Parts: sequence; C-alpha cells; structure tokens
Amino acid sequence: MQSKSFYITTPIYYPSDRLHIGHAYCTTLADTIARYKRLNGFDVFFLTGSDEHGQKIQRKAQEQQVTPIAYVDKIVATFQHLWKQLHISNDDFIRTTEKRHYDLVQAIFQKIYDQGDIYKAAYEGWYCTPCETFWLERQLNDGKCPDCGRPVEMVQEESYFFRMSKYQDRLLKYIEENPDFIQPISRRNEMINFIKSGLEDLCVSRTTFDWGIPVPFDTKHVVYVWFDALSNYITAAGYLNDREKFAKYWPADIHLVGKEIVRFHSIIWPIMLMALGIELPKMVYGHGWLVVEGDKMSKSKGNVIDPLALIDEFGADAIRYFLLREITLGSDGNFSRDALINRINADLANDLGNLLHRTLNMIGRFNDGIILAPGAMESIDNELATLARNTVAGYERYMDRLEINAALKEVWALISRTNKYIDETAPWSLAKDPNQQERLNTVLYSLAETLRIVSILISPYMPATAPKIWSQLGIRTDFAKMQLQDAQQWGGLEVGIKVAQPQPIFPRIEDKPVADKKPVPEIQPVQTPEVSIDEFAKMDLRVAKVIAAEKVAKADKLLKLLVDLGDEQRTIVSGIAQHYTPEELVGKNVVMIINLKPAKIRGIESRGMVLAASCDGKLTLVTAPDMPAGSKVK
Ligand code: ME8
Ligand code: MG
Repeated sequence: MQSKSFYITTPIYYPSDRLHIGHAYCTTLADTIARYKRLNGFDVFFLTGSDEHGQKIQRKAQEQQVTPIAYVDKIVATFQHLWKQLHISNDDFIRTTEKRHYDLVQAIFQKIYDQGDIYKAAYEGWYCTPCETFWLERQLNDGKCPDCGRPVEMVQEESYFFRMSKYQDRLLKYIEENPDFIQPISRRNEMINFIKSGLEDLCVSRTTFDWGIPVPFDTKHVVYVWFDALSNYITAAGYLNDREKFAKYWPADIHLVGKEIVRFHSIIWPIMLMALGIELPKMVYGHGWLVVEGDKMSKSKGNVIDPLALIDEFGADAIRYFLLREITLGSDGNFSRDALINRINADLANDLGNLLHRTLNMIGRFNDGIILAPGAMESIDNELATLARNTVAGYERYMDRLEINAALKEVWALISRTNKYIDETAPWSLAKDPNQQERLNTVLYSLAETLRIVSILISPYMPATAPKIWSQLGIRTDFAKMQLQDAQQWGGLEVGIKVAQPQPIFPRIEDKPVADKKPVPEIQPVQTPEVSIDEFAKMDLRVAKVIAAEKVAKADKLLKLLVDLGDEQRTIVSGIAQHYTPEELVGKNVVMIINLKPAKIRGIESRGMVLAASCDGKLTLVTAPDMPAGSKVK
C-alpha cells in the first residue's frame, strides 16, 4: 500500500548573518505542520536549507577578507545548530553550494535555453542587492527599492533573459483555477494584480561578480541567485536524479514563505516549472512578519532577537509554543518578552503543568502511584471523555486548515476543563472513604487518560515536552510510534502501570530581565507584638477557589476576583494586577481571610482579602492547591 505523502519547505535563508526569531518562527511553523502530518500517517519530506550565492554574500565575505565559501560555511553551521536546539525535524538540509544542486541548476538552465525560453540581450536597469532583485525604473519608489526601501544600483550588462512574458496567461489561468495555490487570499489578489499589470522577461544571469553557478554554455555569466535558489525545492526532491523520490513527493504540498517573497514563489517559480514541464506546487503560503515589542527588527535599532539566547533562557518548547499560540498564521505578529513570560506562566506552568502535577501527585498519594482500572463512568466522566474526543476532531480540522493557534486553543480548553473536573470530583474527599475507592479510580484514570491524549496532541508543537509527560505517566509504549488515531479513542491508557514522581515540566518564570543582577532581598526584621492563640483564632482563614478574575477599569494594580468558598461565592478586590494576569488566577486555590470588615474599593464591595508573600517588589499568592474550597486554614 502506498502511503500518503506530504512535502513541505521553508525558504532557504541567506547565510549573510545569523538567523533571528523571524526565521525561527517560519521554521517552527513548518516543523509543526510536518510533525502533525507524520502523526496523521503521512510520509513527510520536510526541507530547509541555505541560499548561499549572490552579490550580497560575496560582498560580506570580501569585507571580512575571507573566501565566500569559508564565510558561508561558518554561518550555515550556526543555522544547523539552531535547528537542532529548536527541535526542528527537517528530513534534508540543502545548501545551494552542494554539487547535487549545482549540477541541477546547470541542467535546467541549459534545457530552458535549448528550448528557446532563455535568450541573450543587453540589460540596463536597477538592482537591489539586499533583495537580489531587478527593478524597472517605473517600479522604483522615490528611486529606492519598492520592497525594502534601500538604494538600488544601476546595472548594465549583457545578460540572459527568461521569457516569462510568454507564460503570463497560462499562469493567470492556473491561479484563477486553483484558489488554494496562493494563500492567504489577500496575497493571492495582490499577485493577480501584479501579473495583470504585465510580466517582463526576467534577467537570469550576472557578469559583474562570480559567486554563483556558472551558465553552462557561457561561463562569464553566473546564474541569477533567485533562479538558483528556487530550484532547491526540486533538487532536494530528487528531480533528474531520483525518479522514485520525485514521483513520491512532487508536487510540493506547501512552500511556506514570508509574505515579502510570495511574488518569487508564485510568479517566477511556477513559470520556471511550466517551462520545464513540471507540475506546479499545490500551495504557496505567505506568513506574516514578526515585529519586536511593536518595532521592526533591525541591527541599527539593536532589537534583533537571537533565538538561541531565548532557548537557553526559556527552553525550546516554550518558545515554540509562544510563536504558534500567539501569532495567527498569515498575519503579522508581535514578539514581546512580557507576553512570552505570561504565556509560559499561565498556559504552560499553570494550566498544563498543574494538571500533570496534581494528577500524578494524587495517583501517588491515594493509589501508590498505580493507575487502577476505572469503575462505572458517571455523567461527569462521560462528559470529559466526549470533550476529549471532540477536541481531537476539532484539532484535526483546524490543523488541516493550517489554523494552528485555533487548534492549540482547542487543546487548552480541554486542559482547563480537566483542571475543573478535578475540583468538581474532589478526589481528596473520595480518598477518605474506602467505599469510594472505585469512584476514585475512575476519576484518577480519567485524568491520566486525558493527559495521555493531550500529550499526543501537543507533540507537533512541543516535541520535547510531550514524551516527558508520557514517561511521567509511566506509559511503556514508545512515544515515537504514536499516531493521531491513538488520541481518538478514550480508554487507550494501560491499567496497572506506575506513574513517576511529578517533575515540573515548565517552572514558573519570575519576570526579571536577564541582565539585571538580583538584588539581595530586604527581609524586614520581626519586631511585632505578640498575639495569643485566641487572638489569632479570631481570623477566619479559608481556602478559596478563584472562579473568575478581571482587571478593574482604570486601576492598574487592582483585580476583581470572584471566589468560591465551598458554600458561598464572594467578590473581592485585590492589589495584585501587576503580579498576576486574570487568566493565571482562575482555578487557583488561594488563602483568604473571610471575616475582614468589608470595604468599598473603586465602588466594588470587597468581602475578604487574599494572602500573599511579598518581598522586594515581588509577590506570590499563598495557595493550597489540592485542598477543597472552604477548607479552614489555621
Ligand atoms: O529571502 N518575521 O532569505 P532570507 C517573520 N534566500 N519571518 C521572517 C522575518 C520576520 N521578521 N524575517 C525573515 C530569502 N523571516 C531567500 C529565500 S527561497 C527559495 C529563498 C523569514 O534569509 C521569512 O520566512 O531573507 C522570510 O521569507 C525569510 O525568513 C527570508 O529569509
Ligand atoms: Mg530577506
């Protein structure tokens, strides 16, 4: 049986500099899609690489007085190191300086020339070296490159031209007949307009520098770097070299690229393929740009974010999660340190981390760490099982439409519901009553089973975390063999296995800039008058579960909380907004004094006060994670 195949690519990046968070974003996206397809039974070919020729690289090497190949070798090594650190699962890494690629580019240039679609003529026009792009006078913007705004250079040379104009109508027809070919739709409309404005023949060789692949029949010329670069996608798929491989993977399913190079991929590239008589890729997807704290990244601004430093500080999976959860595919996105830390604390340490911790902890305490056979399913258990099944279905639907953050939201809704299930079933109460042992087993099984399913679903996003959850659950099957269908069936968790001691998968991040030296905390000396035990007993301290939390309008320190005290709910106002987001608080079991005289704060009646430890501007709430709401604190 022939398995379904799937071929996805990233742009091959220029090794003119080290890669930044924008490149890491694109490659993480592609990696997640590739991993998802593998999980869903596809035979995947995932390609990334480096685009090493061209005038820009040659100049950089000259500045550093090294040969171009020595220059790129060094930088390409940093690409490969980054992809390893970021858990990128590419099946191949193509360098345009490799022989397999060099030979292919010469062969296709020759073929297109032989059939008359490449011809020699004099070129006179403008060139943008940073973009490696030719422009007509009328296309310039105030005399500058219309793409990047930098100065262009006048180029006059005998060159080879590619007869793009001949294919204009065929391309337009193809785009119109294949609505999925250019995504998202806004990019598609842009490209249709661009083509309708008329395609010029493209200059596809240069003579003013030599860092490139020579034109095979006229070696004074090197092949234009975009002609060279775009061909990487067929070199790596085995065109002219490995018929079986090429038949299996071509046409590519997705060329994932940044929005600024959609034009090259949806105009020049398809026309090259048409000239070669090769099928066109199924989709070119133009993703948005990442800005940093609202600003375009640039060396001169000094705000270029190094993904390796972030990985060192927060771990690869947290960075991956942030990029995939925070940014909608196709739209621009913002990278901010605060938002990253909030996501780690709220979604990873809190929602996911606590669910795992609480589950393992209770199985350890109540059932000696053994996952026992569940008894009869009650309606609350069935509800959870149904939600898990629906989550898998929704996840698959969203992932197939490349709505990656929507798929993640589905998974997190299941995680939140499961945390709530713990509170509603109160396993700690069941554990006190020997007659409830079977009920307890059902609840604990349901929790562990949900985590098994969640770990499969998150594996494309967080490939290191998923197997960690798996092994803490004590599951013996090899995680690498898991398929999406293993998440579809409730009850796949083996009975009788022993869970591990819970290990935190995402420690909470204290929001301190890395560069800051940690000041020595100023602990206040204890000098308060003594109180008697009776005086202390006057204070009614209870565990309260936060049910809802929101910011108080126009008060940046205040949050309004709705808490559950077991037999009643109360509203309180708390000055912790600078330390906790509302989302982080929901579900937390805090400690509060409930017989404090009510006070009106900003027009809201606050009945009680939550307790927190604070020192040096830092603040942490006192919590009692596994205690039911209303429990007395003394
Ligand atoms: O264009 N936000 O290479 P390149 C998001 N060699 N993505 C970003 C980004 C940002 N701020 N900055 C860069 C080239 N990217 C050619 C490609 S393909 C045959 C040849 C990502 O090193 C985005 O995917 O300039 C963009 O398209 C790509 O890096 C450009 O990388
Ligand atoms: Mg670029």
